[in-house]
Amino acid sequence: MEKKFTIILAAGQGTRMKSKLYKVLHKVSGKAMVDHVLTQVEKTHMDKVVTVIGHGAEQVRELLGDRTEYALQSEQLGTGHAVLQTESLLGGEEGMTMVVSGDTPLFRAETFEELFEYHKQKGAAVTILTANADNPFSYGRIVRNNVGVVSKIVEQKDATREETEITEINTGVYCFDNKKLFAALHQVKNNNAQGEYYLPDVIGIMKNQGEIVAAYQMDDFSESMGVNDRLALSKATKVMQKRINEEHMLNGVTIIDPENTYIDYGIKIGSDTVIEPGVQLQGNTKIGEDCVIGAHSKIVDSTIEDRVTITASTVESSIMHSDSNVGPNSHLRPKSELGEFVHVGNFCEVKNATLGARTKMGHLSYVGDATLGTDINIGCGVVFVNYDGVSKYHSNVGDYSFIGSNSNVVAPIELADHSYVAAGSTITKDVEQYGMGIARARQVNKPDYFKKLPVYEAAIEAEKNQKN
Ligand code: UD1
Ligand code: CA
Repeated sequence: MEKKFTIILAAGQGTRMKSKLYKVLHKVSGKAMVDHVLTQVEKTHMDKVVTVIGHGAEQVRELLGDRTEYALQSEQLGTGHAVLQTESLLGGEEGMTMVVSGDTPLFRAETFEELFEYHKQKGAAVTILTANADNPFSYGRIVRNNVGVVSKIVEQKDATREETEITEINTGVYCFDNKKLFAALHQVKNNNAQGEYYLPDVIGIMKNQGEIVAAYQMDDFSESMGVNDRLALSKATKVMQKRINEEHMLNGVTIIDPENTYIDYGIKIGSDTVIEPGVQLQGNTKIGEDCVIGAHSKIVDSTIEDRVTITASTVESSIMHSDSNVGPNSHLRPKSELGEFVHVGNFCEVKNATLGARTKMGHLSYVGDATLGTDINIGCGVVFVNYDGVSKYHSNVGDYSFIGSNSNVVAPIELADHSYVAAGSTITKDVEQYGMGIARARQVNKPDYFKKLPVYEAAIEAEKNQKN
């Protein structure tokens, strides 16, 4: 079988992004654009993939690792020059080479496959993937002769008035006969408006040499969108978001308002889960079946098992086991783990802590750096005091314990199984099994003391007025 290669162009700085971040590393639905491109390329089972890198090379390498080989383009002299930098890795090969840009994140592997098929059928030296754009501005245009045969590609800045009227654009994806590609590249000149060596010039060169130049027009322009600035980045994100949300819905997930639901690429969600408006699911997150992810919740890098309810809360790098729930307005910070049927209610924060099965903390509490057993009740306003201004300390609380409202549990500390903390205590000493810790001043009641207080006269007066 014929060998297949791909070259991903990713060395341009992306000046139009006006960014410190290198262009192809900008994310669309949580994944860098160049990673989207490579992910789709990988599905087409290439014999070799070479990514051309320049500025920001280390970051791109770090991201893509050994999924691709690399060629360095130390000066960005144009897309033709960029492809030429792969010559030492690919120049000698027989086969078919696809070239694709790292800033076109929406292409699907299926479209690449269609292009390969068409290219083979035509027996062409090159097949350009083209699309029809409503607004073709800034794209290279496909120039066809009077019988409709492609003669060349002309860039926006070099186009005549007439040529700018053409709506068929170069998507920046091509299939080449590998040997012919490199032969033609050596003939590309930079005598154009941008002073660059354009890859699209290879088309005119091949045409003049009498080679077969073919063009395959894809149906959906939006899939070919190139991202050169932040406007296009937001448009590409919208397209990707729609694609991702539709896939989840077809897989049995209810998304109430897909226009306003932001799910990163690659996140798995079980069937019959309901996602309410304004939810953000990010990073390495996994959601089980029959969950309810309430409006405006944000879940990052977390595992959410089945039948979990999250109400208007933020969950980061945490695990929620089946049937647990959190919120409204609570925050699970990194390394929190909620056991089955755990309840974390309103305005709570959990950080680097494990809550065993069926443990409950209903309201306004902070649990940090702690290991809590099962079936514990944490009253309202309990604070795990884990920090002395220098170091963090750990607390352990045993099964079936009860921590009364408004208590401070000062770490490091051990509260045994079945231990009890009286409300309003500041607990600094361990409590043994079946023991109760109480640490608060005793109450003293003073009869008739109210009458000695300055408020007394005013109170009597007010009472009188009420009665009148
Ligand atoms: C390019 C095409 C244009 C096409 C459009 C599709 C050229 C000259 N023009 O225009 O016909 O319609 O893509 O999106 O090819 N790059 C390098 N090294 C360089 C220059 C660019 O690696 O020296 C990379 C960039 O990182 C980018 C890709 O090549 O990923 C395309 O370059 P870009 O400057 O974005 O070209 P466009 O102006 O979009
Ligand atoms: Ca581009």
